[in-house]
Amino acid sequence: MPAGGFSVAAPAGTQFEAKITPIVIISCILAATGGLMFGYDVGISGGVTSMDDFLKKFFPEVYRRKHEEIDSNYCKYDNQGLQLFTSSLYLAGLTATFFASYTTRNLGRRLTMLIAGIFFIVGVIFNGAAQNLEMLIVGRILLGCGVGFANQAVPLFLSEIAPTRIRGGLNILFQLNVTIGILFANLVNYGTSKIHPWGWRLSLSLAMIPAVLLTVGALIVVDTPNSLIERGRLEEGKAVLRKIRGVDNIEPEFNEILEASHAAQQVKHPFRNLLLRRNRPQLVIAILLQIFQQFTGINAIMFYAPVLFNTLGFKSDASLYSAVITGAVNVLSTLVSIYSVDRLGRRILLLEAGVQMFLAQVVIAIVLGIKVTDHSDNLSHGYAILVVVMICTFVSSFAWSWGPLGWLIPSETFPLETRSAGQSVTVCTNLLFTFVIAQAFLSMLCHLKYAIFAFFASWVVVMSLFVLFLLPETKNVPIEEMTERVWKQHWFWKRFMDGDHADEKQGYKRANGSNGVQP
Ligand code: BGC
Repeated sequence: MPAGGFSVAAPAGTQFEAKITPIVIISCILAATGGLMFGYDVGISGGVTSMDDFLKKFFPEVYRRKHEEIDSNYCKYDNQGLQLFTSSLYLAGLTATFFASYTTRNLGRRLTMLIAGIFFIVGVIFNGAAQNLEMLIVGRILLGCGVGFANQAVPLFLSEIAPTRIRGGLNILFQLNVTIGILFANLVNYGTSKIHPWGWRLSLSLAMIPAVLLTVGALIVVDTPNSLIERGRLEEGKAVLRKIRGVDNIEPEFNEILEASHAAQQVKHPFRNLLLRRNRPQLVIAILLQIFQQFTGINAIMFYAPVLFNTLGFKSDASLYSAVITGAVNVLSTLVSIYSVDRLGRRILLLEAGVQMFLAQVVIAIVLGIKVTDHSDNLSHGYAILVVVMICTFVSSFAWSWGPLGWLIPSETFPLETRSAGQSVTVCTNLLFTFVIAQAFLSMLCHLKYAIFAFFASWVVVMSLFVLFLLPETKNVPIEEMTERVWKQHWFWKRFMDGDHADEKQGYKRANGSNGVQP
């Protein structure tokens, strides 16, 4: 331990004393419910939109086309209203993120989670009780606001409350719970599809479970010391820190948070600060990782797996069953990532997954191209199984690479002063591109047909080249040492680190009216 005096912060990279206390465990459960809610919302819409009772009530046109067999196999579900049902959630979420970045800073993480929980509860009521399309969409928008607030606050809450040595593991735990939420939704849909005519209502209403869990959790826990200290509640912050760390010697960590909060308070315009040249590498990487994560095509599979399997000629029941299999593969493969991310490193996982995802998508494109034409699907049992196996191959590699790392890497590469604004941009980019894929996928399937998988495969090539040349390894590098050990050493990004001094000199020059040469 550092010799930390009352006003002396610990040297960068120091591990502070901490036990894994019950309150930290409660925080994990909280993260689980925030992640569960996001995953449940992602997973539930695909199954619901392939239920006849639901289509008959809200989308009679789609229902008619589905059963009259007048359309191409690839176009049965191409309907803007249907896509709006799925994607309105993401549009609302990305708008809400901007408000959430304000509330996390000024009202705290805990209250922001509470706001998210309340949005979720009201949204679920609208959806479960929906009498018309309007109520349905309003419900999805409210859920989207919940996602925007929760995805901003929960990861921040977790990283701040977690002891440094298990912060990375906890980060992926959030993604693990996203995948559990998706699986839970698939299982629910599998069961409710047999309940007529209100099975879909049950699917949408059961989101109440994670919603209430998050709300109650937010009421029970205390806010993070960082947030309390940042808002000037120093004594309370110190007491919370002592409680969550379970040790008496919390001065060094307290002082470091205090110092960090002073530094953060110097930054008057967090988003403008994010645009400084020295922050360019992290910003570009965070944005690109999220765009690439969505252009793997994962959500085309996650939202529309049941629809997709139906299109491929599986009967309704078998298609939900297949979606449950992909959901389970998603959960289990995320565990692989928790185990290996700090052993093998981020780059290896991303590069290996790139090869696996590319091959799986090419095989799917070839099988569908040969076997599923516009008006006949002669996908034999054997080929159908091959497609399901390839989809599982694809999902598993995503789940140990782009899924968790799309969230982990941005969260560990931003310096403290830009970390929360960076998180906002990360969430916003994620939801924007999730929206784009959700809105476009069914039309793309209709027009590109089997080639849609070749489309995603080519993106996989682009993102793998990006990883190969431009993504530095961040395994085992303390957050505080990223600039020195990662960015300043990287063949490409180091040129932006010269901007570091240029930025500082500019600031110095403005502050002193001098020529910028520091003493
Ligand atoms: C992505 C989601 C996706 C999920 C699948 C997450 O990391 O952000 O868009 O649905 O993984 O497991």
